[in-house]
Amino acid sequence: MATVIKNGTVVTADLTYKADVLVEGGQIIEIGPNLKGDKELDATGCYVMPGGIDPHTHLEMPFMGTYSTDDFESGTRAGLAGGTTMVVDFALPNPGESLLDALKRWDNKSTRANCDYSFHMAVTWWGEQVFNDMEVVVKERGINTFKHFLAYKGALMVNDDELYASFQRCAELGAIPLVHAENGDVVARMQADLLARGVTGPEGHSYSRPPEVEGEAANRAIMIADMAGCPLYIVHVSCEQTHDAIRRAKQAGQRVFGEPLVQYLVLDDSEYQNKDWDYAAGRVMSPPFRNKKHQDSLWAGLQSGTLSVVATDHCSFTVKQKRFGMNDFTKIPNGTGGLEDRMPVLWNAGVNTGRLTKEEFVAATSTNIARILNMYPRKGAVMVGSDADLVIWDPKATKTITAKKQVSRIEYNVFEGYTCTGVPRTVFSRGRIAWHEGDMRAKPGDGDFVAREPNAPVHVANAIWKGITQPKPVARPDIVP
Ligand code: URP
Ligand code: ZN
Ligand code: ZN
Repeated sequence: MATVIKNGTVVTADLTYKADVLVEGGQIIEIGPNLKGDKELDATGCYVMPGGIDPHTHLEMPFMGTYSTDDFESGTRAGLAGGTTMVVDFALPNPGESLLDALKRWDNKSTRANCDYSFHMAVTWWGEQVFNDMEVVVKERGINTFKHFLAYKGALMVNDDELYASFQRCAELGAIPLVHAENGDVVARMQADLLARGVTGPEGHSYSRPPEVEGEAANRAIMIADMAGCPLYIVHVSCEQTHDAIRRAKQAGQRVFGEPLVQYLVLDDSEYQNKDWDYAAGRVMSPPFRNKKHQDSLWAGLQSGTLSVVATDHCSFTVKQKRFGMNDFTKIPNGTGGLEDRMPVLWNAGVNTGRLTKEEFVAATSTNIARILNMYPRKGAVMVGSDADLVIWDPKATKTITAKKQVSRIEYNVFEGYTCTGVPRTVFSRGRIAWHEGDMRAKPGDGDFVAREPNAPVHVANAIWKGITQPKPVARPDIVP
C-alpha cells in the first residue's frame, strides 16, 4: 500500500522545495508534484524532512553501579515522539570481555527497539583479543566506529598506549574512532581535592571538570589520531577549548568531527548552583554544562561547519538513582535525557532565532551523521530509494516541555518549562506511521539494526612518518620489541 504525503515542503540538507512524497515498502519511491497513493496525508504548511538520527545514546547502560533507566523500548519511543527515527548506542565490554560477547548483550537489549538503531563499539581495555575482535566487529557485524573513554578512571578509561594502538587498528580497518575527551587522571585528582575541602554537592561535579580537562584530552586525541593516520570523531563537545582544537585540526587538513549536545547549546553551568539538590544532580553529566561564552562558541561551530552533529548523549537516571551521590558528587550517576527534545529545542533555539537555516538544521540532526557513519543516502535523506524515515514538521505548532507529559521514564526533564515553536506532527519509520499528533503507533520490535560498511576517509599520517614506513598496528603494545 502506497502512502502519499501531499502539499508539503521538502527540506533537505541542501534544498527546500515543494513536492509530494510517495512511500511504499518502507522506502521513498517517488518525489514530485500531484502524486497519488492508496492513502493520503496532508502536509499543507509543514516541512517534510529526514527523520532525526541521534548518534549518541546510552539505553539501559550499566554505569556507576546502576543501569540508565530508559532502555531501547522507552528510549526509542521518546525519540520518535520528538522526530528522531534512528539512534546509535554504545556497546560496552566489561574489563577483559570480548567485544563480541558485549555485542551479544546489546543485541539482546535492543530487541524491543521501536525505531531503527545501530551500535558504536567501545574499546574499554586492550589486548590481542580486542585487536582480533575489532576486525570481526567491522567485517561481520557492520560496525565501523569505535569509542574510547579518556575519562572515568578505573572504569571505562583507556590510556594513551591503548588509544594509539586502537586508533592504528581503526586506520587499518577503515573505521572511525570516537573519543570522550576529558583527562580522567586530572578529573580524579580534582574530585579528591574538592571532597577533601568539603565540597560534596553537585556543583563539585562541574568544578572538577573544567573546560581545560576537556580541551587537553581533545588536543591529545587529535594528535594521536594524526600520528595513527585515522580520522577522529569527538563526542559531546561542550567548550571552546575542544572546539578550538577541532578547528585547528580541520584547518591543518585532519578529518576531525565534533558533536555538541543540544543540552550544551541552551543550558549553562548556573544549573549546578541550584539549591534544590535533586534539580542540580539531575543536570550532572560529563562534560558538564558550560557558561554562555562556550555556548556561543558551539553555535558558531555549527554555523561555520567546524562542528557537524547535534546529539543528546541520552543517559537518563531517576531521582532515586541520582541520590546515590547525595553525600558525594562523584557518586551521582552521570547523564541526562534529551531524546524527545533534541529536534524541537534545536529548531526553536537555532532556526527560530536565525542561528541555523532549516537546511543546516537537517544537516546537524540527520544528514551529516548519516554521511559520517556511512549510511547515507539510505538514512538522512529525502531521496528516491532512501528509507522512508521522515518527519512532517509543523513550524507553527508549539509545545512546552514538561516531564509530566514525556515518554522517557524519568520524573524530571532538564528542559522543563522550555517552550518550542516547531514540533513534529507525524513521524514515519521505514514507511510506517510511528507517531502522529501524540498517538504512539510504533511497536516494540519494529526497529531493525542498521549495518554500516567501513569507509573512513583516509588520513595521511603525521609528517614524522613521511618517507619512512608507518608503524603497523600491534596486538600487544605493552610488549615493546
Ligand atoms: O554523563 C554522561 N555523559 N553520561 C553518559 C556516559 C558518557 O560519558 O557519555
Ligand atoms: Zn562520554
Ligand atoms: Zn555518552
